[in-house]
Amino acid sequence: MSQDSEPRRGWEPPYIIPHRYDNSKFGRRIARDNCCHHIDGVDVEYLLSRYGSPLFIASERRLRDNVRRVRNIFERHYQPVIHGWSYKTNYTSAICNILHQEGSWAEVVSAFEYEKARHLGVPGNRIIFNGPNKGRAILERAIHEGARLHIDHIDELELIETIAKEQNKTVPITMRLNFNTGYTDPWNRFGFNLESGQAHSVVTRIKRSTQVRLTGLHSHIGTFILEPRAMSEQVRLMCQFMQEIEADGKCTIDALDIGGGLPSRNALQGIYLPPEQAVPAIDDFGEAVCTALSKGLAQRTAPPPLLFIESGRAVVDDAISLASTVVGTKQLPDGRAAAVLDAGINTMLTALWYHHPVKLTKPKPGNPVDTVLYGPLCMNIDVMRHSVYLPPLAVGDQLVFNPVGAYNNSQWLQFIEYRPPILLIHLDGECSIIREAETLPDLCRHDRLPAHLTSPGHVP
Ligand SMILES: Cc1ncc(COP(=O)(O)O)c(C=O)c1O
Repeated sequence: MSQDSEPRRGWEPPYIIPHRYDNSKFGRRIARDNCCHHIDGVDVEYLLSRYGSPLFIASERRLRDNVRRVRNIFERHYQPVIHGWSYKTNYTSAICNILHQEGSWAEVVSAFEYEKARHLGVPGNRIIFNGPNKGRAILERAIHEGARLHIDHIDELELIETIAKEQNKTVPITMRLNFNTGYTDPWNRFGFNLESGQAHSVVTRIKRSTQVRLTGLHSHIGTFILEPRAMSEQVRLMCQFMQEIEADGKCTIDALDIGGGLPSRNALQGIYLPPEQAVPAIDDFGEAVCTALSKGLAQRTAPPPLLFIESGRAVVDDAISLASTVVGTKQLPDGRAAAVLDAGINTMLTALWYHHPVKLTKPKPGNPVDTVLYGPLCMNIDVMRHSVYLPPLAVGDQLVFNPVGAYNNSQWLQFIEYRPPILLIHLDGECSIIREAETLPDLCRHDRLPAHLTSPGHVP
């Protein structure tokens, strides 16, 4: 672009940003005009004036694009691939149904999530039932409905055998494995351990059973994995284990489920590089996984196993934003600026682990200053950003946090505030509320008042 065609910017006074001890050696990046006016072409300020603040804003387009992209990356190298939507990442009904329309199965980890998937119309045989607490009643239903069961511990295995006998069935099961890839902290509280020999002895036990049949292997090595080699090693170890247990011809594995863990473009606390530099592309993970898979399957004569991926945050995180309004400003005793927002960790619990990128809805005059963004809770830990350079804020200024789609609409807290609505911007730009804001009757629905407590003024 020639100099002439660049938009003219008004003169701004120069400013100095002090390097504090918590700055990284790369310094702070400040994008002064980096605002979020629109999401999918819809004006954010208009949405806030129409639907109130705070407001979650979901993009149907981004969600569909993300899940297609993730699946395509793996399918380019390996087939067949199935995406299991990890309900716990965001189980808002409309979000789940968009992903089910895209062909994703449901990956659920509790009776509630199982019931929710069925309630949304997902057939049992397109549900992956994971997690360490599956009670008898829900297991009976899942077995009856043909869900894929991922076994977490030996007591669960025994319970499944009992139910299988009662239902006169041999139930196919998937075994969850845990191991050390050498790249991430092993999540060894889930499933059966490889290095100790536990997983092998459980396989021996399963092979003797007349009620269950081992047909799948699963592992999930953690979330927000930043090292593709971790997933490559995960697949190598799973393939090696598969080869070992198939060697006697007493079982054939038809599915490998590598869980979730793909990162989103978010900023994990403690990582100083910006997400664009710290977070590898999903393509790198796809290539690492599929290369390890083709090496691991090279000697195998059985048909290639189904590859399940349960990617959560990489699919939904950047598809949802949280718009919020400044309700007050302060200067802290150490001189830093602070603002109180109408949304805090009650709506965005992941602020405890991430420096969520935040933008104003429109440019503001004034030099950026080190600002603390607090939420509205009477709780000291209610901090949305401990330190972010923003122009001096005033009441009514509006801010947009993105990405926030992963784990917030499932882990949010109903603590002293009503949880806000979630709005969906459809593919055609139309908008609709996909989750209403909570109201007093919603929150009091489960309270019960014994007769002598119905009046606060009456002392018995
Ligand atoms: C078994 C399992 N699958 C999938 C996921 C989704 O993980 P992520 O959001 O990191 O993709 C999780 C989350 O911890 C999980 O425990």
